[in-house]
Amino acid sequence: MSLDPFVRSLDAMLEEARALLSSATSAEDLEALRVRFTGAKSGALKTIQKGLAEVSPEDRPAAGKRFNEVRESLQALMDEASQRIGGGGRSKATRSRIDPTLPGQRPRIGVVHPITQTIEHLKEIMGRLGFTVAEGPEIEDEWHNFVALNIPEDHPARDPLDNFYLATAKSASPSRDAMETNLGSNDGTIGGPRLLRSQTSTVQIRVMENEPLPMRIISLGRVYRPDAPDATHFPMFHQMEGLWVDEHVTMAQLKSVLKLFATSYLGGDVKVRFRPSFFPFTEPSVEVDYWWNDQWIEFGGAGMVDPNVFRAVNIDSERWSGFAFGLGVERLCMRRFGITDIRDLYRSDVRFLRQFAT
Ligand code: DAH
Repeated sequence: MSLDPFVRSLDAMLEEARALLSSATSAEDLEALRVRFTGAKSGALKTIQKGLAEVSPEDRPAAGKRFNEVRESLQALMDEASQRIGGGGRSKATRSRIDPTLPGQRPRIGVVHPITQTIEHLKEIMGRLGFTVAEGPEIEDEWHNFVALNIPEDHPARDPLDNFYLATAKSASPSRDAMETNLGSNDGTIGGPRLLRSQTSTVQIRVMENEPLPMRIISLGRVYRPDAPDATHFPMFHQMEGLWVDEHVTMAQLKSVLKLFATSYLGGDVKVRFRPSFFPFTEPSVEVDYWWNDQWIEFGGAGMVDPNVFRAVNIDSERWSGFAFGLGVERLCMRRFGITDIRDLYRSDVRFLRQFAT
């Protein structure tokens, strides 16, 4: 046999397959056509292939090449039809992989971190008591973190080993007078060396420097101390600071506010206890405890703003008085959610955190 009739039979078969495949509408049609054209035993392709042996040897390479081309075209046509019909075709690669009968996959949605939930809750309660939210930087200078808060140079809280001082702050600590006359500048030499704030009391100073009186603010945020992590310590934690300055603010109001706060946050009628204490920025100073679940729980410090603090921010302490308090947010959060190890809050383990979905 010469090349021509062989090629003609190939082309004719391809055309016929093309026509039939384009009008196939079901997986059964497709399967029937597959058997008819490419069936291993007596498919049209197989039959034509047998004729290859009869093509004269010099034409055989060209015939073989054409045969392969047609076989590929045929396969492509069948794949195409299979895709159009949707499944059931012979080729595994082209069969649809979507099984619409399987149950769907629920998308994973994150939850708000328990500390963030607590912060929002605290803002909401204090907002109802008339406190607005103030913010301050986490990188502070010595003026705001210590000096203006009446914490003297030799106070243990200023020990460099108990604070995260920043290596870039090389300047010597300026005198108190120099600091007081140069407030508001961002020059690294003014305000003293920089550190990560160790308490949110810094924000009291910033607000009193900048806002008009009277004022009633809270500030919530991160603070840093180089404590070795254990179940109750972590080098970064959160505090809520409160400050109320007006003409006749008293210790009785401090107690009322903290009691209302505790009642709202913990629920029920919570008892509040003040124990005499000392903080450089308040006079008198107290430790605040709440009676809850049959025990006294320590919640933080408070007191009446020390006249030295007012002096640092140019507020007349003869006319104005104020109270301040500082509470640990983690402690409040952990009590409420039944978390016993502070480190669990900061492991970023979503399996743990996901439990506290709202
Ligand atoms: N800054 C204190 C601390 O970190 C907490 C504190 C105590 C804040 C008494 C206050 C206060 O405002 O009046 O331990």
